[in-house]
Order: sequence, then structure tokens, then C-alpha cells
Amino acid sequence: MSTIKIGLIEYDSEQYIESVALRQDVLRTPLGLKFTKENMTNDANEMHIAATDGEQLIGVLLLRPLSDHLVKMRQVAVKEVYQGKGVGKQMVQFCESLCKSMGFARIELNARQVALAFYLSQDYDQIGESFLEIGIPHFKMIKKL
Ligand SMILES: CC(C)(COP(=O)(O)OP(=O)(O)OC[C@H]1O[C@@H](n2cnc3c(N)ncnc32)[C@H](O)[C@@H]1OP(=O)(O)O)[C@@H](O)C(=O)NCCC(=O)NCCS
Repeated sequence: MSTIKIGLIEYDSEQYIESVALRQDVLRTPLGLKFTKENMTNDANEMHIAATDGEQLIGVLLLRPLSDHLVKMRQVAVKEVYQGKGVGKQMVQFCESLCKSMGFARIELNARQVALAFYLSQDYDQIGESFLEIGIPHFKMIKKL
């Protein structure tokens, strides 16, 4: 795993296009859904973080500033064969350092039920009851930086 790197990628770059394919494969295809242009209208205004293994993009995570203090983490996805190897955790840690250095005080996210334990293990607090998003249960979670 020593060749894995985490960093920011440019919107509309080749890596961005690869990351959209990964988001489709990991987050939408298993639910029988497809990304539409409308789903991606905000992509241009967000920070895009990627994990790479050599030339291959293996993880993605988006950050959407909601205010000067608050940022929303979304679209967290790791390529299936790389899951459970610490890649997701490295991306989240990278984001937390980045957000802190930019002056954000808090990260919030909507976690799928299957990913709840992943975020709990990284000290995100679950807020309130589950709600439906894209047809599946989600939980709001927050972490103070
Ligand atoms: C959820 C996801 C992003 C996690 O990334 P990952 O690289 O597989 O997770 P990591 O290997 O970094 O795991 C970090 C920690 O979370 C725990 N964890 C990860 N997934 C877990 C799960 N499904 N259930 C319980 N614990 C889990 C790991 O055991 C590990 O704990 P540790 O630090 O004590 O060893 C990834 O599995 C994924 O893309 N899943 C499919 C898409 C998805 O559900 N995305 C989240 C949308 S909200």
C-alpha cells in the first residue's frame, strides 16, 4: 500500500473524469442508478480529493463549503478491490487537515447505513434518526475539527 497517494485534483481534468466513473461504479451502479448532469452541476464549486495507486485513481471524496465554518463531505468512494485497506481513512484524514488549514470548524456528512461504522471509527457523531436519500437510509454525522 506504500504507493498510495492522496491529493487534490482539478475539476474537469482527466483525473476528474476518472473520478466520476469511480463514483458511478461504487456509489450508483450497485443501486441501479445513473449520474445525471444535474447531479454534477455543483462539482465545479467543490474540492475534489483523490487517492491514487501509481497512475490509477482508486478513491474519491468531495468537499462542498456550506459557509465560512462548515464544509460538507460527500461522494466518498473507494474502488472495490482497495476497500478495507485504510484508503478511505487516509482520504478522510487528508480532508480534515485540509479543512482545518482553510479555517473550517466543522465537517458534516450524510452517511449511508453501511458506512456508519466507518465514520464512527473516525470520531464522527451521529445526529438524529435515519432518513432516505437516493432511496436508501442515511444518517447525518458531524465532526468538530
Ligand atoms: C465506506 C468506504 C468509503 C470506506 O473506505 P475503506 O477504504 O474501505 O475503509 P478503511 O479501510 O479506510 O477503514 C477505516 C476504518 O473503518 C472501518 N470500516 C470501514 N468500512 C467499514 C464497514 N463497512 N463496517 C465497519 N467498519 C468499517 C475499518 O474497519 C477501519 O477501522 P480501523 O481504523 O479501526 O481499522 C468504502 O468501503 C466504500 O467506498 N464503500 C462503498 C461506498 C460507500 O458506502 N461510500 C460511503 C458513502 S456515505
